[in-house]
Amino acid sequence: TTKGLKDHYKGYFTMGVAVAPRSLHGEDSAVIVNHFNSLTAENAMKMEPIHPKENEYYWKDADSIAAFAKKHGMKLRGHTLCWHAQAPSWMFKNEKGDTVSKAVLLQRLKEHITTVVNRYKNYVYAWDVVNEAIDDNNSNYLRNTAWYRICGEEFIAKAFEYAHAADPKAILFYNDYNTEMPGKRDRIYRLVKSLKDAGVPIHGVGLQGHWSVNNPPKEELEKSIQMFSSLGLQVQVTELDVSVYGGRQGGQLIQGQRDTTATFTPEMEQLQRDKYKMVFDVFRQHKDKITGVTFWNVSDRYSWLDGRGRKNYPLLFDMNRQPKKAYWDVVSFNQ
Ligand code: G3I
Repeated sequence: TTKGLKDHYKGYFTMGVAVAPRSLHGEDSAVIVNHFNSLTAENAMKMEPIHPKENEYYWKDADSIAAFAKKHGMKLRGHTLCWHAQAPSWMFKNEKGDTVSKAVLLQRLKEHITTVVNRYKNYVYAWDVVNEAIDDNNSNYLRNTAWYRICGEEFIAKAFEYAHAADPKAILFYNDYNTEMPGKRDRIYRLVKSLKDAGVPIHGVGLQGHWSVNNPPKEELEKSIQMFSSLGLQVQVTELDVSVYGGRQGGQLIQGQRDTTATFTPEMEQLQRDKYKMVFDVFRQHKDKITGVTFWNVSDRYSWLDGRGRKNYPLLFDMNRQPKKAYWDVVSFNQ
């Protein structure tokens, strides 16, 4: 094995990657072990996959990821305990199919969080407790989800309290995307500050980092890191990738074939290198505030971004799992 990403970043922060169980015994596993020292389950610990029925948990996939992390001495981030997506529909209904009361839903949330956090107590060091609870629209505050409609704002604090009770040593995160957009950032700040002020056990903010060749601007990224850490919270980049297409903010799109065979053009490559270089420069500069960086998938061979009717190339390893030029840009500070 050669010097990997994690070795270059020793003394800075852990380098993580999101995985599916299948990547742990295929050819991806060599890249994972060589370059990363932290894992996140891309899907396996989410509520629906791990808790498909009220009295039934499915542990196999999550267990295999936890065992791999332990075997290779890697850290493990838990993702995620309370989210509107990939939440099983039984959670919100009774046997008659009616919507449950707030008391019942909070009891179910407590049972879920207690059981899952307990099972991975000796594996998971940090949990994304609540994911994406803030609305994208600047005229709203919290996202209008089943959790919110049934429980009001309270489910957020409760989720953190249940997780903390189950594992008092775990580092607990609020995790979201578009954390560099001023409006949404202000709302996230308002939420995490209100939790801190109320004495809720929250220890960090996860910047997902689903970025693109157009986003985020350097100043906004730095401002987000500064704002959240000014509350005494640690910051982690939890789901990093850089789409070769325009971002969610409606920035100028790169012209390219928007189909599944679209190629990685030299123009995309250059813009992506610039973005990766910039964000890692910022991460290193703020290493006192950032405790981990995790990529969302291993190589360009597979990314969740491919599922949008077009091939993307958002990671540091190419279709053959070889380091891209952006990889060398990211480690060149430490040659
Ligand atoms: O495994 C099932 C299979 O049993 C089923 O038959 C099939 C039919 O739809 O779906 C399979 O599940 C899919 C799952 O990925 C595993 O491949 C789901 O449909 C699909 O929705 C799911 O997508 C995941 C997505 O979260 C769900 O919203 C992506 O893999 C995952 O990368 C993505 O990750 C999220 C983070 O958790 C939170 N932040 C945003 C990020 C990107 O969307």
